[in-house]
Amino acid sequence: MKLLFIGDIVGHGGREAAKQLIPALRQELSIDFCVANGENMAGGNGMTKPLLLEFNPGTVDVFTSGDHVWDQKEFPGQIDSMPNVLRPANLPEQQPGKGWGLYTASDGTKVGVINLLGRTFMGLPSNCPFSAAEKAVAELRQHTPVILVDFHAEATSEKIAMGRFLDGKVSAVFGTHTHVATADTQIFPGGTAFQCDAGMVGSRESILGRDIAPVLTRFTTGMPARFTVNENAVTLHGICVTIDPATGHATAIERIEQDFS
Ligand SMILES: [Fe+2]
Ligand SMILES: [Fe+2]
Repeated sequence: MKLLFIGDIVGHGGREAAKQLIPALRQELSIDFCVANGENMAGGNGMTKPLLLEFNPGTVDVFTSGDHVWDQKEFPGQIDSMPNVLRPANLPEQQPGKGWGLYTASDGTKVGVINLLGRTFMGLPSNCPFSAAEKAVAELRQHTPVILVDFHAEATSEKIAMGRFLDGKVSAVFGTHTHVATADTQIFPGGTAFQCDAGMVGSRESILGRDIAPVLTRFTTGMPARFTVNENAVTLHGICVTIDPATGHATAIERIEQDFS
């Protein structure tokens, strides 16, 4: 079976690109299941139920998130009504939402999805992502060997460590958060597909999806500046992985890059 993973969807431009490009990619690549990180879809900060519902069924099957998950104040009250939306599993357990789930792909394969948050250079207080991963994998493997992990983290070392930690236990470990797709696409010896960062669905004429000028102002003057989203020149970045549904092992992996506007 084939799975498509899409990096952080940023702003209106990212949403429009994702909504239009993903259905075509699904058809072209014979994709059975699609996971996308949605943490920046609401003007760059967080997500909301109405925005998530704008995606037609069969576009994105599961949305993951990250450090921006609670940026929109109404979202904590909305997440529990959307079983296909995940927040990092290692956030304090008192928080709403859930960090992993079991879903069914279009070919009938059961797919486990786990969302985790890194702790190196990340602002949000969270529990150990490695022990959270171990716990979720043990539960999901009772139902399926096909498991995808979105590890939302800053440090490449922490992400590679997670990939190696889970090698042979899950089908794929893909990083998000940095918005820059990395060129380390590979399948580890145990059969786990890996890429440090999937990239984003966001503007090429930007700094991580934000307008260039205010980010430069912040860096050069140290003065506060509002980071507006650049909605133009959008490119979609993702990863397509082929998985043996009997073993859960990845057999092929391909980095996806497609210009939208
Ligand atoms: Fe992001
Ligand atoms: Fe993030």
